[in-house]
Amino acid sequence: TDKALDRDCTTLSRHVLQQLQSFGPDAQDLSALMNRIALAGKLIARRFSRAGLMEDVLGFTGEVNVQGESVKKMDIYANEVFISVFKQSGLVCRLASEEMEKPYYIPENCPIGRYTLLYDPIDGSSNTDINLSLGSIFSIRQQEGEDLDGQASDLLSNGRKQLAAGYILYGPSTMLVYSIGKGVHFFTLDPSLGEFILTEENVKIPDHGAVYSVNEGNFWQWDEQYREYIRYVHRTEGYTARYSGAMVSDIHRTLVQGGVFLYPGTLQKPEGKLRLLYESAPLAFLMEQAGGRATTGTVDILDVVPKQLHQRTPLIIGSKEDVAKVESFIQKGQ
Ligand code: AHG
Ligand code: MN
Ligand code: MN
Ligand code: MN
Repeated sequence: TDKALDRDCTTLSRHVLQQLQSFGPDAQDLSALMNRIALAGKLIARRFSRAGLMEDVLGFTGEVNVQGESVKKMDIYANEVFISVFKQSGLVCRLASEEMEKPYYIPENCPIGRYTLLYDPIDGSSNTDINLSLGSIFSIRQQEGEDLDGQASDLLSNGRKQLAAGYILYGPSTMLVYSIGKGVHFFTLDPSLGEFILTEENVKIPDHGAVYSVNEGNFWQWDEQYREYIRYVHRTEGYTARYSGAMVSDIHRTLVQGGVFLYPGTLQKPEGKLRLLYESAPLAFLMEQAGGRATTGTVDILDVVPKQLHQRTPLIIGSKEDVAKVESFIQKGQ
């Protein structure tokens, strides 16, 4: 049967409103914010779906971002899509993204815009030119401080302050996964309707899974205890490896099938690669909501208070038992 034809099919907007019934004065705002994120997802998905057919979609811009990474044209397109959909929302006064050194202010929305959007416009940029899965990651926070220094120091708080978080996965279908602190829900874009339709509600991650997901090319760059963990999975029956180059797809698989995704620190990047505020923290929020865990190895990701906007953290995320197994190796090394 066709879920979108189902008389009771639930669109994203309806779902958010239902979820928000006990949410107080922020309810309408959050529902409008989620609708804007869905619109950004549709615009980006549309561009990806025809990428090879159009000029100037694929490839690099020639610029290097604040992370020291070569920027793809799609990184910039997606970054601008989020800015433009939120300019019109009136609700967001400030956006912070992987692709912008400093937060972007929308003066016409300030001070009425009471929220900040943190986002990774394209996650897994290296998959852009080879037509593999990619994502976008988002996190919504209440704007608390005045941000007098323009450095967004009021954003430097722990991940438990997120009001909502989620991702969009651009795979064979486009999916939107979100949580407002009441479970994790999957939506699938029906391109002919232009609507995200609820396909799974209250997703729970299995307590254990067979898959470990890590870039083993960094093996000799890690601390010994991570090598010991990998030697353990190599020697133990029942493990299998999967790594896509886009953490959104790796974490989506992990949510559905269980297992663990890791990005440890390396010799060159002792804090690893992944950025706390707009990559690790939103995914950790979802993972905890789904009954899983996310840690740096010593501290829960949601308890880490960053010192800078683009701060990186090591990340171990997934099924409870698998995360605990990695931790047990880390503790042995200490
Ligand atoms: P981004 O494309 O937003 O810079 O993030 C890429 C991240 C993440 O999605 C992925 O898991 C990881 O980088 C891959 O990095 P390596 O190639 O170093 O494994
Ligand atoms: Mn990048
Ligand atoms: Mn990313
Ligand atoms: Mn990115």
